[in-house]
Amino acid sequence: MTKPRLYSGIQPSKDSLHIGNYTGALVQWRALQDEYDAFFSIVDLHALTNAAHDPKILADATRGLAAQYIAAGIEPAKSCLYVQSHVSAHSELTWLLNTITGFGEANRMTQFKDKSQRFGADATTVGLFDYPVLMAADILLYDTVIVPVGDDQRQHVELTRDLAERFNSRFGEVFVLPKAQFPEEGARVYDLQNPTAKMSKSAESDAGILWLLDEPSVTAKKIMRAVTDTLGVVRFDWENQPGITNLLSIYTALTGRSEQEAEDEFTGRGYGDFKKTVADAVVAEFEPVRARTLELQADPAELDRLLAANAERAEAIANATLKRAQDAIGLLPRLR
Ligand code: TYM
Repeated sequence: MTKPRLYSGIQPSKDSLHIGNYTGALVQWRALQDEYDAFFSIVDLHALTNAAHDPKILADATRGLAAQYIAAGIEPAKSCLYVQSHVSAHSELTWLLNTITGFGEANRMTQFKDKSQRFGADATTVGLFDYPVLMAADILLYDTVIVPVGDDQRQHVELTRDLAERFNSRFGEVFVLPKAQFPEEGARVYDLQNPTAKMSKSAESDAGILWLLDEPSVTAKKIMRAVTDTLGVVRFDWENQPGITNLLSIYTALTGRSEQEAEDEFTGRGYGDFKKTVADAVVAEFEPVRARTLELQADPAELDRLLAANAERAEAIANATLKRAQDAIGLLPRLR
């Protein structure tokens, strides 16, 4: 029996993932890869929309992200992990979808609004505006049923569904309608220094971001210095205790404890003690992943071979979907 398809991706916009990418995406991916026919892409075309994009580091960051996927438990024997730009159908389907995407609808994407405000008018490109349409093409090319992502991608997956429905109703049934799936804990991790702002690869300061490839002592120090409050109670209360709640949420996401279990564990204990326990849990989770990533990165040729083989598998599926879309929209088929 064929398994339903799963699709997700992360941008290689930095040389390391952060803990939000880890709990929001990778922990779910790892758990779901047996049940689904899973495709995990390294979305390098999306990374080009970053104002700080540096051509000198992109290729290494792309390979490094493949190493982090594998080190975190994505099994190449089961799941297809590949590089988005290696499959040209992604760009081609984006163009077709562009022609049915409303300007106003793309303009309502909150991530575009946030980023364009941050980048400023000069660095805001048409590529950044089009980012969600490229993401829709990624998902739709693979007849995807579920898209495991963090909470910040909710609106983009909704747009993907809207575009698929619109295309199907105008041109015939071509696309499967996908659904987003979010983790119970860790769907939105906040910056440790500014616990009301989402932890983001592009934040100005490094102090509030836990990078997967940080040295363990750096990780521990960042957690010990995380902003908290003066209430002195360890409990889930996003409104009044965002710093403590963020740490608790990281702790439950990584240890599998329930919220109640975690609160009970820290009843009557001080913030220092609590932070130390969280730091130990994060280091215990990250350290083997970091070590394995470094090992895998020592053999770039092997990673490149794996990515090339997987791109072929991805391409066969993507090209078939693209062809259905081209035919449905009325393009003259090229004789082969
Ligand atoms: P990116 O690279 O920004 O984020 C990758 C994944 O990490 C999740 N995430 C978070 N989760 C919890 N807390 C946070 N602070 C946090 N920050 C990021 C994101 O929700 C995401 O799951 N557009 C996508 C990449 C993409 C994609 C796709 C995803 C391109 N095409 C197709 C799924 C399907 C993105 O923002 O990646």
